[in-house]
Amino acid sequence: MDMGDSNIQKLQEIIDRAKRLVFFGGAGVSTESGIPDFRSKDGLYNQKYKFPPEYMLSHACFVDRTEDFYEFYRDKILSYEAKPNAAHLFLAALEQAGKLSAVVTQNIDGLHQDAGSKRVYELHGSVRRNYCTRCGAFYDDKYIKAQSGVPHCGCGGVIKPDVVLYGEGLDDATVTGAIKAISDADAMIIAGTSLTVYPAAGLIRYFRGRDLAVINLGEAGDVPGALIIHQKVGETLGQIIIKQ
Ligand code: OAD
Repeated sequence: MDMGDSNIQKLQEIIDRAKRLVFFGGAGVSTESGIPDFRSKDGLYNQKYKFPPEYMLSHACFVDRTEDFYEFYRDKILSYEAKPNAAHLFLAALEQAGKLSAVVTQNIDGLHQDAGSKRVYELHGSVRRNYCTRCGAFYDDKYIKAQSGVPHCGCGGVIKPDVVLYGEGLDDATVTGAIKAISDADAMIIAGTSLTVYPAAGLIRYFRGRDLAVINLGEAGDVPGALIIHQKVGETLGQIIIKQ
């Protein structure tokens, strides 16, 4: 048995023992679905644009340069026709088996719900939800994709994605729900996140359960006491057997 196998075995034991597991994920959970992450070599933040991507995804850009915002957003965020991968599917099955209490994600792609997960705390919102800034009417992502330029509501208002932009706060109810799930969990898996963006990354400090695992291709901050697996999250979770 090599190191990789023994780590999978340890992760299997953690999942066998867990009754209220929480999964805390980031962009690396969706790279195996073909959506690039932010900070890897091929990530969104290492490409060249007119303005830094942090500005393109900021509240200031949405307000001051709405047209540029939507050009970037359609091109770089909405352009993927992605399907759930083995990680998303595993987590939905684990919830179905009554062993996973919640997915807490920084992702905005909606792939956990596509896989069938029910309790998902989307810390940074979702591209699937969009609202008129004047009357509050709802629009889905297909509507935003189909429009060109700045999407407008029937009432004339500008539509805004329900995505937490730089310079905006997180939704209180979502954060409270995520903190409760993490505080009550007996096990937590942190995967596919650089743990560099706050306040999201700070929420893992609420964990006081027994078993902690980190699955990340690269470095993932300092998580003392965790089982660390430097492999792809989909490939890793795809090897785990769910026992009732
Ligand atoms: P990052 O791009 O910062 O980190 C992704 C991490 O996943 C990196 O450490 C990669 O090594 C790792 N990774 C990539 N593919 C993987 C795979 N298949 N299996 C395991 N690990 C893999 O993404 P986040 O931490 O999610 O915020 O970034 C946090 C926030 O920064 C995002 O939610 C976004 C961004 O600005 C907003 O848009 C508000």
